[in-house]
Amino acid sequence: MSEQTTAPAQPRVSAKAMTFTESVIRDMTRLALAHGAVNLAQGFPDFACPPELKEAAKAAIDADVNQYAITWGAAEFRAAVAAKVGRTYPGWSVDPDTEICVTCGSTEAMIATMLALVDPGDEVIMFEPFYENYGPDTILSGARPRLVRLHAPDWSIDPAELRAAFSDRTRAIVLNTPHNPTGKVLRRDELELVAELCQRHDALVFTDEIYEHIHYLGPGGHIPPATVPGLEDRTVTINALSKTYAVTGWRVGWTIAPPAYTSAIRKVHDFLTVGAAAPLQAGGVAAMGLPPAYYDGLAEQYRARRDLLCAALTDTGFTFRQPDGAYYVMCDTRAIDPGGDDVALARRLVTEIGVATVPGSSFFADPADGRHIIRFGFPKKLSTLQAAADRLARLGRPAADG
Ligand SMILES: Cc1ncc(COP(=O)(O)O)c(C=O)c1O
Repeated sequence: MSEQTTAPAQPRVSAKAMTFTESVIRDMTRLALAHGAVNLAQGFPDFACPPELKEAAKAAIDADVNQYAITWGAAEFRAAVAAKVGRTYPGWSVDPDTEICVTCGSTEAMIATMLALVDPGDEVIMFEPFYENYGPDTILSGARPRLVRLHAPDWSIDPAELRAAFSDRTRAIVLNTPHNPTGKVLRRDELELVAELCQRHDALVFTDEIYEHIHYLGPGGHIPPATVPGLEDRTVTINALSKTYAVTGWRVGWTIAPPAYTSAIRKVHDFLTVGAAAPLQAGGVAAMGLPPAYYDGLAEQYRARRDLLCAALTDTGFTFRQPDGAYYVMCDTRAIDPGGDDVALARRLVTEIGVATVPGSSFFADPADGRHIIRFGFPKKLSTLQAAADRLARLGRPAADG
């Protein structure tokens, strides 16, 4: 008697989980580690955070601040965030008791916001190329992403395309300024157009401002959408300690929104994570207390990093628009990879050259739109960036013995 064999059943996972793939960026980080490559893929700093943050977090642990904080954030930290916002943007007043929810990084802030404020069937507008989390966040909320293109080379918005994307189904638009991956910083006239459209269609703005202090435009270069007339009462501002203070591993972020939206976000946040790490919120109080000179120094250091990397990329033959903000360069690869296989080029850069990047297709719904693009990140020490530059100089040159 022959035994019947049946193929093992695929374990069932949710339909939602099937609609998106694992993060390509973290995948590149794993590949970079395996090949000893300089990791210019994932956006985390390789330099130390300010000592004030470490001291405050260590002191909090020693003082036994080791139990749950209030779920929507320790009172002292919320007060410090509100005070820092008021100092940075005079006229913007935030009530720490009713308008802030502290989260596990801006990643949780965005998904908690969507789950709290968006319903199945709603549309959420977002710009493409996009930071890879927004699409899955929208899908997990049961809503539909509606994409609007930022046009290369200057990543401009076509006002007619933006107008056409808004409809009665629009619940919200996701903004990210300064923008990952393009380095675009939204101008006042662009934000005014968003305000006009959101008012007309009664839509909200979810704005990810994690690169708020990393831009190259000088004072006043970054305009928080929540300060634009018409958007004050319809904006959820999302931010975190991660990038401004070089503590991406701490996972401390927050939302700022009118009280009714904040209470919905707080409820969702409570069931998602209960709260962000209590002693690290004490570190956050120290961060909020840093003087203006810290932010000036941060921008200056990032400018030097940007200039070093951009010079190396130009020498290598990539073309790109120098970023106005954030810490990424989106490169057109046509001169180096005329065939346009971004994933193969990114793999080759890791395995043969020793530099990890992100293939452009990760930032587009249709991978074909990113096939002539790769993204380099520069939140690194100048010595790290110089090592990457030295390796990139080998790209396209025949081997010395060859
Ligand atoms: C635009 C943007 N938002 C959010 C994040 C993640 O932030 P967090 O570490 O605070 O969750 C990143 C990280 O690269 C980012 O680029």
